[in-house]
Amino acid sequence: MPVSKRIKEICEYINNNSRVADIGCDHGYLILEAIASKKILYAQLIDNKIAPLEKAKTNLKNIKLNMDYTLSDGLDDLNPIIDTVVIAGMGGILIKEILQKNLVKLENRNLIIQANNNLERLREFLYNNLIYPVSEKIIFEKSYFYQIMYLKKEKTIKKYNFEDLYLGMKLKNSNSVILKKYCSMELKKYEKIKEDVSENKDIELIEKKINVLKKTLRRFINKT
Ligand SMILES: C[S@@+](CC[C@H](N)C(=O)[O-])C[C@H]1O[C@@H](n2cnc3c(N)ncnc32)[C@H](O)[C@@H]1O
Repeated sequence: MPVSKRIKEICEYINNNSRVADIGCDHGYLILEAIASKKILYAQLIDNKIAPLEKAKTNLKNIKLNMDYTLSDGLDDLNPIIDTVVIAGMGGILIKEILQKNLVKLENRNLIIQANNNLERLREFLYNNLIYPVSEKIIFEKSYFYQIMYLKKEKTIKKYNFEDLYLGMKLKNSNSVILKKYCSMELKKYEKIKEDVSENKDIELIEKKINVLKKTLRRFINKT
């Protein structure tokens, strides 16, 4: 089974010599790719359902690495030796709930997140808990954009604004052509929504988004 670009890009944020936990491991492909592309010292595959854990065990049966398969909710039974937590392929609200339940376990750990939706609400929660991006990227695969964040909990508060929630504190300054493509598509989408008065429930939010997108796209034009 070829590993997706999304999973490869997530694994790029895993450091060599890490002890990694994959929360919501499902098929186990993320740990499989992490082991193939990085030097991993230990892996904990966590899922709250038995069937995905069994699937992961089958997919990783030939891998010789110290690994544990844990049937558990989110970070409840995180092995204390873990230094890197990955949560990917879930909705932003579910990820927020998983983190909120065990916030204390994020101290001094690297956190890698790829949420499928509700990024603004997830980011608001992260920033309010002093968890800020060290690096962020956006990728495009099979008609979908994915934003991937590498974060750490910090000691001091950083101010943030709407742009930081919408495009990410780091991603908003990226020169990525994928970001440009994303902003162009979002702009088209929100301009269309704005035109359609019947759908127009939250004009203020739509206008805020349009302004951020136009500002970001201007940055790209000024660079060429
Ligand atoms: C859509 S899959 C994502 C799989 C993989 N992480 C990826 O990015 O391709 C979501 C997985 O998370 C698991 N899951 C959902 N809620 C969970 C929770 N609270 N704790 C642990 N696993 C959870 C589901 O059982 C499922 O296997």
